Amino acid sequence: MRLSLLTTTVLFFALSSAAFGQTIELSIDASKTGPKISRHIFGQFAEHLGTGVYEGLWVGPDSKIPNTRGLRNDVVKALRELKVPNVRWPGGCFADEYHWRNGIGSKRGVTLNPTWGGVIEPNTFGTHEFMDFVDQIGSEAFLSVNLGSGTVHEAADWIEYMTSEQQTTLAKERAVNGHPAPYKVPFLGIGNESWDCGGNMSPDFYLSQLKMYARFVRNFNPAQRGDDRMMRIAVGPGGTEPRFTEWTETVMKGWKGHTWSWDMEGLSLHNYTVYNWEKKHSSVDFGEKEYAEILKKTLEINGLLDTHIGIMDKYDPEKKIALVVDEWGAWYAPMPGSNPGFLVQQNSQRDAVLAALNLNIFARRADRIRVANIAQMINVLQAMILTDKEKMVLTPTYHVFKMYIPFQDSTSIPVAFNAGTYAFSNITLPRVDAIAAKGIDGKLWLAITNLDANRAAEIDLKSVGANVRSAIGQTLTSPKVDSINTFDSPKTVEPKPISARAQGGKLMLNVPARSVTVVAVE
Ligand code: AHR
Repeated sequence: MRLSLLTTTVLFFALSSAAFGQTIELSIDASKTGPKISRHIFGQFAEHLGTGVYEGLWVGPDSKIPNTRGLRNDVVKALRELKVPNVRWPGGCFADEYHWRNGIGSKRGVTLNPTWGGVIEPNTFGTHEFMDFVDQIGSEAFLSVNLGSGTVHEAADWIEYMTSEQQTTLAKERAVNGHPAPYKVPFLGIGNESWDCGGNMSPDFYLSQLKMYARFVRNFNPAQRGDDRMMRIAVGPGGTEPRFTEWTETVMKGWKGHTWSWDMEGLSLHNYTVYNWEKKHSSVDFGEKEYAEILKKTLEINGLLDTHIGIMDKYDPEKKIALVVDEWGAWYAPMPGSNPGFLVQQNSQRDAVLAALNLNIFARRADRIRVANIAQMINVLQAMILTDKEKMVLTPTYHVFKMYIPFQDSTSIPVAFNAGTYAFSNITLPRVDAIAAKGIDGKLWLAITNLDANRAAEIDLKSVGANVRSAIGQTLTSPKVDSINTFDSPKTVEPKPISARAQGGKLMLNVPARSVTVVAVE
């Protein structure tokens, strides 16, 4: 068959617009800078839940799985490479049932984990093991103290035990247990979801508890003074219901009127992306419908954040109090055959796109959101890593966190783009999303998420006041929206190099369908 030039040209444009759709114009204004994007928004969460701690990171020193002081070497290496800024521990709901004394010394109390499957809690992974873990991966500690079934006394003793340099009885006990030097505890969560699993408290009751914990649970480490002082994080909202706006109002108003005797530095917010709590989506074997539904749901966090940041702005216009999104991510149905109390799910390219969208949302509010923790780090919910005995696999979400490392402690830069639309059935979403920042390496970094399940996007990249010559980095896409990495096929979803050079003063970057791309722009 012979095609005329006209027919060929028409066909070419028809095909390319089907493949690429409209060009997306994107312009970065490097002459203007915004707030710092704290590295702590890339934080992780490791709860005593399922195999998140035991098996996932702790195998014990006698295990055949290669380990250093009981911590598995493969997992530690992968997390070191991720530059995890902080790890929240020991919960979650578990924190409000955790008694730290069971987890120190040579004789550990064997207890239960009633919230998560009712299984035995051997307490072989306790304070010293957690701090060793944080140290081995090059991270920092975010502890949640027990405000549910514990006391102010118990929490105060724990933090004195960990942080006192002076030779108190507790500091001496710490030394006997192997750590003479005081530990650093940069983040302290005061309770967890105290409106539900943490004791179903009213906001007023919680506020009176908060004042006591914020007053008496002291960090004595002399290295943690002034700007390095421990951030005390109050329980904040966990949904869109009116009771949560009342909660934020109560805590922020209480803080506004605080006296010299207590203070706080952060307010927590939890948000899970769940399609329907009664009928959750599967994490595997889904189609474009479920892909679009979950992405639509995840973008609803914008409204939640605006509501609660609005309340915070009212009481704290100087933004002294950080919003700490210390639980976020996708929550799907448990994998068939798994213990439902273990919250085991797979992690697909849909989760990579979801992770990038949430990180962009936090980065855009970097003046208020200064800490965030995805739930959870290993084997639980939207995990970075999945393990099965000696096997380990990195998930698509892991790759996104790794690609975003240049944004840790970067300075945000305004980026303008016509997002376009991606539609599936009656769901309409922005087609692309993007953030830009100047990294601590001095480079200009751009992250682009293409939500469109089918169409690549041609990005016409411009820089205000300067010519862009090249964009070099990595892109993460997959054969299908539900592509996953497994122990047998660990590289189905892996970042690939991507680059573009300017031609005739124009720089066009083609980002694949359903992808996350991070490039350095020159
Ligand atoms: O991450 C799982 C659970 O979700 C946490 O323990 C709890 O805080 C939240 O409800």
